[in-house]
Amino acid sequence: MLIYLDCDTGIDDAIAIAYLLAHPDATLAGIGTVNGNTTAPQAAANTLGVLALAGVTGIPVAIGSGEHPGSVVAVHGGNGAGGVGLPPGEDPIGRTAVELLVDLARRHPGELHVLATGPCGNLAAALRAEPRLPELVASVTVMGGAVRVPGNRQPHAEANLAHDPGAAAAVLAAPWPVTLVPLDVTMRHRWTVADVDALRAGGTPLHRALSDMVPVYFDSYERLLGVREIPLHDPLAAAILLGDVTPDDAPLLAIEVQANGRTAERGVGSVRVVLSLTEPAGPVLLRRLLA
Ligand code: BDR
Ligand code: CA
Repeated sequence: MLIYLDCDTGIDDAIAIAYLLAHPDATLAGIGTVNGNTTAPQAAANTLGVLALAGVTGIPVAIGSGEHPGSVVAVHGGNGAGGVGLPPGEDPIGRTAVELLVDLARRHPGELHVLATGPCGNLAAALRAEPRLPELVASVTVMGGAVRVPGNRQPHAEANLAHDPGAAAAVLAAPWPVTLVPLDVTMRHRWTVADVDALRAGGTPLHRALSDMVPVYFDSYERLLGVREIPLHDPLAAAILLGDVTPDDAPLLAIEVQANGRTAERGVGSVRVVLSLTEPAGPVLLRRLLA
C-alpha cells in the first residue's frame, strides 16, 4: 500500500512512523509535516531523525503549513519528541508538503492512501491547490475528533481537529473516502510501562529512542487517566489503514465540525468513523515494531 503520511511528529506520530516502516505491506511514498505537537520544521527534523535511526534513506520529507503554531508541548516535550535528541538525518526536500502530496497523487492516480496524524492544514491546502485531488487519492484516514467522548483539547474538541477546524471541515467535506479515527477508539488502546519495556528490549537504536521519548507522554496521560498508560492515537490510525486491526463498529456518519463559529456539514453516509475494534491493538502494534 502506497502511503503519504501527514504528521506533526510528536511522540505517537514517531511510533506511527516506526510502525509504518516495520510493516511489510506499507510503502511510505512521502511525509509532510504540519504545526501541531510542535512546529512543522521541528516535526520534520523529528521525522528525519526517526528515519535515520531506522537506517532508512530516500523517503521525501517536506515541511508544511506554518500558519498555526504548535501549542501542546506539555504533552510531547520541548522538541515534540519527549526532549530526546535525535540524529540529524537527511535534509527536508525543497518543496512544501502540499506540493509533495499533490505531486504524489498525480503520479500515482488511484493508488495513494493519505494518512493524517496531525492537524489538517496541508490536506486542506492541497485540496485548494489541486481540486481533482479527491479523484486522484485512493483513501484518506484522519486521526482526530471526539464523537461520543470528551475532547482532549476542549470539552468537545480533540487536538488535531481543534488545531485547525476550518481545514478539518474542508477535509471531511471533500468527496473522497474518509475514515476518521477519533478519541472514542484511540483512548481505549494503550501501552503500559511493561509494553514500553518490551519495546526497549527490542534493542535497536529506534526502539531505544522511542522508549526514551515516552516518559513525558506517560506523565501527561497519568494525570488524565489515573493510570500509567499511553493511548496509541496515531499508530492506531496507521494500523486501521493497513488492516492490521479490525473495526468492530465503524458507522458511516454525517460529521459536523464546529469551531469558531465555522460549521461544515457532509451528507449522511460520507465519513466512516471507527468507534471500536474487535481486539486490543496494543499487542498488535508491539509485535510489528519488534518483528
Ligand atoms: C492527537 O494529538 C496529538 O497530540 C497526537 O499526536 C495525536 O495525533 C491526539 O489527539
Ligand atoms: Ca499527531
